[in-house]
Amino acid sequence: MSIISKDIQKAAQLLTDEKLVAIPTETVYGLAGNIFSEKAIKSIFSTKKRPFFNPLIVHIPSKEALKDIVVDIPEKAKLLADAFWPGSMTLVLKKNKNIPDLITAGKDTVAVRIPNHPVTLELLNSIDFPLAAPSANPFGSISPTKPEHVESYFSNEISQVLDGGSCANGIESTIIGFNNNEPIIYRLGALALEEIEAVVGKITILNKKEVKPDAPGMLARHYAPKTTTYLVDDVASEIQKHNDKKIGVLVFNSSVNNNEITEIILSKNNSMQEAATNLYNAMHTLDSQNLDIIIAERFPNNGLGKSINDRLQRATFK
Ligand code: TXA
Ligand code: MG
Repeated sequence: MSIISKDIQKAAQLLTDEKLVAIPTETVYGLAGNIFSEKAIKSIFSTKKRPFFNPLIVHIPSKEALKDIVVDIPEKAKLLADAFWPGSMTLVLKKNKNIPDLITAGKDTVAVRIPNHPVTLELLNSIDFPLAAPSANPFGSISPTKPEHVESYFSNEISQVLDGGSCANGIESTIIGFNNNEPIIYRLGALALEEIEAVVGKITILNKKEVKPDAPGMLARHYAPKTTTYLVDDVASEIQKHNDKKIGVLVFNSSVNNNEITEIILSKNNSMQEAATNLYNAMHTLDSQNLDIIIAERFPNNGLGKSINDRLQRATFK
């Protein structure tokens, strides 16, 4: 048996024993527990210090498993599931009554997705219950895209960090809900809006800044570094305004050419996908360097740039 399979077997056992395991997905690492274990689910909330009003995403291994989770699936949800699962899209659908209220924060809907990561798919196929998994970070802080990020957050609180390497997509799934069977974006994410619109037509985006929103991924301050962060179009002129400070910059594709400054270029190849993949790791890195401020460059507002801007915007909110 490969080392990976041994680790997966260990994770399956821990989860069966109502323990928490950090799992790799193609978006970010999740903090996983058995959706039917009240003990595990409560410990997800307490470990993350997450308020109970913020519901969890249910992870399943296949479309066949969906019928145990939800009822009344709209046609457009079926089209989206066929197009993008396994993958970085979460659907919010009417819940089956066996789904515990703790998972859904008492709502009559449940968020569900099939993640696209071989390790976690193998894990999900080797257990007979779905996994609830929010991102494996304390509430409000930067999501983890590497096992070491999870370890630095929760070295003692969780039983195992299942190593699946760095997350390929690097930002959370795109969340889609339905209103009168028409899809609405609850959270921008790793699946670009244009790709979704190519399948179901023009789609609206839920207003972002509610306090207790339908998708608390929409909370204004979220995914945030501890270091004060600014999001600007013109990084060079923002640097001028703070010349007495220790500055870190996060830029898309080109250097600010200033060797006084700690700089991370997210994609020298000018690839938004590569930038998304590197985004949270770059934020973790800059946040650990005792800088006074971080200046982030705004991305072109299309494709994954829209999702990246959404995360950068939330990182700046105080
Ligand atoms: O990529 C991802 O989605 C990652 C990986 C681990 O799968 N998970 C993730 O989970 O980002 P979390 O808990 O950090 O974000 C889940 C979001 C929250 O904003 C939550 O409010 C929303 O999903 N959500 C969950 N259930 C919902 C529901 N019934 N209605 C509306 N929003 C819901
Ligand atoms: Mg999260």
